Amino acid sequence: MSRLEPAELPDDLLTPEAVADPDGAAAVLRAHDPVHWSPTHRAWLVTRFDDVVAAFKNPALSSDRVRPLMSARDKPSGDASQKMLGLISEWMVVTDPPAHTRLRRLAGAAFKQQQIAAMEERIQTLVDDLVDTFLASSSPARPTDLVAGVAYPLPAIVIAEMLGAPPEDRDRFRSWSDELALVAFGAGGDARPDRHERALRGLEEMAEYFRALVAHRRREPGGDMLSAMISGDDPSDGSGLSDDELVGMCALLLFAGHETTTNAIANAVRLLTADPELRDRVRDDPALVAPAVEEALRLVGPIKVLVRWVIEDHELRGRTIQAGERVYLVLCGANRDPERFADPDTVDLARSRATHIAFGRGVHACIGAQLARIETRIAVGTLLRRLPGLRVEGEPEYLPTIASRAQTSLPVVHDGVPASRP
Ligand code: HEM
Repeated sequence: MSRLEPAELPDDLLTPEAVADPDGAAAVLRAHDPVHWSPTHRAWLVTRFDDVVAAFKNPALSSDRVRPLMSARDKPSGDASQKMLGLISEWMVVTDPPAHTRLRRLAGAAFKQQQIAAMEERIQTLVDDLVDTFLASSSPARPTDLVAGVAYPLPAIVIAEMLGAPPEDRDRFRSWSDELALVAFGAGGDARPDRHERALRGLEEMAEYFRALVAHRRREPGGDMLSAMISGDDPSDGSGLSDDELVGMCALLLFAGHETTTNAIANAVRLLTADPELRDRVRDDPALVAPAVEEALRLVGPIKVLVRWVIEDHELRGRTIQAGERVYLVLCGANRDPERFADPDTVDLARSRATHIAFGRGVHACIGAQLARIETRIAVGTLLRRLPGLRVEGEPEYLPTIASRAQTSLPVVHDGVPASRP
């Protein structure tokens, strides 16, 4: 293969070609310049598996990436976007140790108490309810959107229930989640300059709602995760989460757990139904659903890129990475690295499981991975079983964002005669 010059490399991740085929762009970068400076993004694009894994553990790379953005914008503190970023900058996913360590310990303990595995039965019921409604409102041969019908509502309902919110408030969780997605990292294009103002109004309403929910659960604790977070104390100093931290944690769980899981389900359905033989094999053997979902997370994972801020000069593959620059950890490149995965672009149900990094690695590794896996497996397994001959119509259309692999819709048809719920 002849070497491409840096200027010839596909290092703008928001071109229509790169949005349609991020894995193709990442493969070219990985082969020709695995630590590549992108003038467009003003960031280093790191695409090899080993380099990305090492980066997760490198203290020269900070997760505190919102505060530098705020200072760079040089806007007054009353500015709507600045206020929004101020709220987000406290989330544990954008903090470094030791602040992160404390938040993670408290959230981790609450997750443990939730006994996520015990939620399987409830999630199965929720999925079956959504599939019933989907079937009632569609006909087998008319393409109907599975994102709107199943993949989108499910994770919002699960998070709302997990936080102990009443069922009638579920729809509000969905719209807040959309507003969060509008302003949080990587929204490409910035086509709508008023997006921060609009989102801020919704998010202030969300913060008020969570504040009231926190007050309610302080008075009347339940078996939910918010009550567990309220009652948790950090064993190192006995301090619990403040009201502001609890509100921030609720918003983060909704933001981090909604769109990602929606996309995990939608991307897995497209991948696994593209090959009817594979689809029917997975449908007929429930033991294959888990490995099929792992391969979908590896090949078409919901997060394409994670961002880190460089806080100390260092070398990587002969490049000098300087403090103040940004590094993009290109997960979609790492998860298809041929040095790590034999035959990397193929679905291999016998591949050993937890080697991909769709959930990240290191101190920030996804705290909701177990829940996400359960939701995705139940949704995908149920859809394959209950909608025989399931297939997606047309080519995928992805939102033009750097961070997420998000299909705008998933029009599906099936052979009719749906299987009833168990
Ligand atoms: C398939 C779905 C999901 C994917 C692919 C995913 C992926 C990730 C990744 C890559 C990170 C690391 C971020 C970083 O290093 O900067 C992360 C962190 C996180 N995820 Fe997930 N996630 C998913 C679902 C969920 C769910 C369902 C929840 C909770 C309800 C959740 C909550 C979180 C939180 C709170 C963090 C921050 C952890 C920390 O900073 O210590 N995620 N996720």
